[in-house]
Amino acid sequence: MSQKSLKKERDPSIIILDFGSQYSELIARRIRETNVFSLVVSNQISIEAINEITPKGIILSGGPNSVYDENAPKCDEKIFNLGIPILGICYGMQLMVKELGGTVKPAIRKAEYGRAPISIDIESDLLSKVKDQSIMWMSHGDSIAFLPDGFQKIAHTENTLHAAISHKQRKLFGVQFHPEVIHSEFGMTVIKNFVYSVCNCEADWTTETFLDETIPIIKNQVRDKKVLLALSGGVDSSTLAFLLNKAIGKQLTCMFIDQGFMRKNEPEFLMDFFDKKFQIKVEYVNARERFIRKLKGITDPEEKRKIIGREFIRVFEEESNRLGPFQYLAQGTLYPDVIESAGTNVDPKTGERIAVKIKSHHNVGGLPKDLQFKLVEPLRKLFKDEVRKVGTALGLPDEIIKRHPFPGPGLAIRILGEVTDEKLNCLRDADLIVRDEIKNAGLYDNIWQAFAVLLPVKTVGVMGDKRTYSWPIVLRCVSSEDGMTADWSKIPFEILERISNRIVNEVVQVNRVVYDITSKPPGTIEWE
Ligand code: XMP
Repeated sequence: MSQKSLKKERDPSIIILDFGSQYSELIARRIRETNVFSLVVSNQISIEAINEITPKGIILSGGPNSVYDENAPKCDEKIFNLGIPILGICYGMQLMVKELGGTVKPAIRKAEYGRAPISIDIESDLLSKVKDQSIMWMSHGDSIAFLPDGFQKIAHTENTLHAAISHKQRKLFGVQFHPEVIHSEFGMTVIKNFVYSVCNCEADWTTETFLDETIPIIKNQVRDKKVLLALSGGVDSSTLAFLLNKAIGKQLTCMFIDQGFMRKNEPEFLMDFFDKKFQIKVEYVNARERFIRKLKGITDPEEKRKIIGREFIRVFEEESNRLGPFQYLAQGTLYPDVIESAGTNVDPKTGERIAVKIKSHHNVGGLPKDLQFKLVEPLRKLFKDEVRKVGTALGLPDEIIKRHPFPGPGLAIRILGEVTDEKLNCLRDADLIVRDEIKNAGLYDNIWQAFAVLLPVKTVGVMGDKRTYSWPIVLRCVSSEDGMTADWSKIPFEILERISNRIVNEVVQVNRVVYDITSKPPGTIEWE
């Protein structure tokens, strides 16, 4: 490990200049899938910063503007003279064309959205092995009218004359389609061609290289100081616990605050797993009574969330004072949180977008400043799928790696209205049945989340010869890529039937099960 890599984190091989596309993050993910490290940076990055990073390639992202808009975002035009290969995607290509002397116009016939078969005109490094007439995903209003000197058209579609362009000597390329979206049939081929054939990147971004580089960086940052980690048992905090345990061992203290809103057997499982099985010291804080007392009589969802958040911070403060002092707080912040919460806040030196706040929906979010922790965030450059790989490499079992997301406020936001011990116990039993049956049916890994929600109303039923008057349980199963949008899962009727039968028979206070068939939007995944 060289002195340089001890001090400094890895520079990206490919930087993506962001012009406001909803796909900028996706481009970075796709490039990383080819084992090449890439980061999204501001379009305002300076030439000096680029020279310092020395990327092997640059991508100019798409964006919502027209290049002729008054406030259309631009980058330093000297970027085209650096001798670094550039790929402009959609807006990025149009900007490159305009800056180098060509012209862009509103599309002659009509805007082009959706799938379009592409016709390859000329062989090129960029489109090598892309099948003629394969489908690429288009989403644009403007098109190129005239190419700058030295450029040639390498592909077209029925509606777009310049679907792909190149300047062979200067290694400048542009595509009007979006190679990063899954609907582009040969999109990954285009991305691989760019990073390997055009930019000569090496496939050196792997879980092993991440661990080799990150562990010394953590050691170097923390030195002999103490680190506190709020463990929730989710993938991120669990991976972080394993990573820090490997890097700094006994200097790490994990704290698990049991608010009383966990799933059945979950606190016991976590303590057993981390503390006993892996000897990772976890301080168990039983705060169940405090939380349920605070929620007495509270029915408004936002108020519940706020009370839970505030109480969490209080318990966290008290306990960290009791166990500390700690100089560092470990956070499971991931790369999407960094880009999304950073907005336009840019590191003036590197142009990298930087986080301005602690992950807002994280349990420890909003910690008061006077706690005076410095942050350790070794996962902040990783996407979720990369975290899972790191966790697996560190020895975390699938039971943790593949578990569904679980909200910080836990079951408290899955009991509509006031939360009581009786309702919590009821929901825990129903929830366990849902999880068991979804797992038994082999559906768990293909579903984003599957859970039960308790409604605070009573409905009439009949069991044996007796009339019942009890709560209904809502079954919610959704598929999703990232939790931002979701669709309800088309679970086979037999499985729904089994889950319903078991819940009404085994959970005493429940006499009815309904299935939620709402997508997000307009619904949300959780009910509160
Ligand atoms: P919604 O209900 O907004 O949920 O569609 C999107 C995803 O976020 C999870 N979620 C939370 N996660 N703290 C968390 O850590 C929270 O307060 C919270 N609320 C919702 C939800 O489970 C889903 O995966």
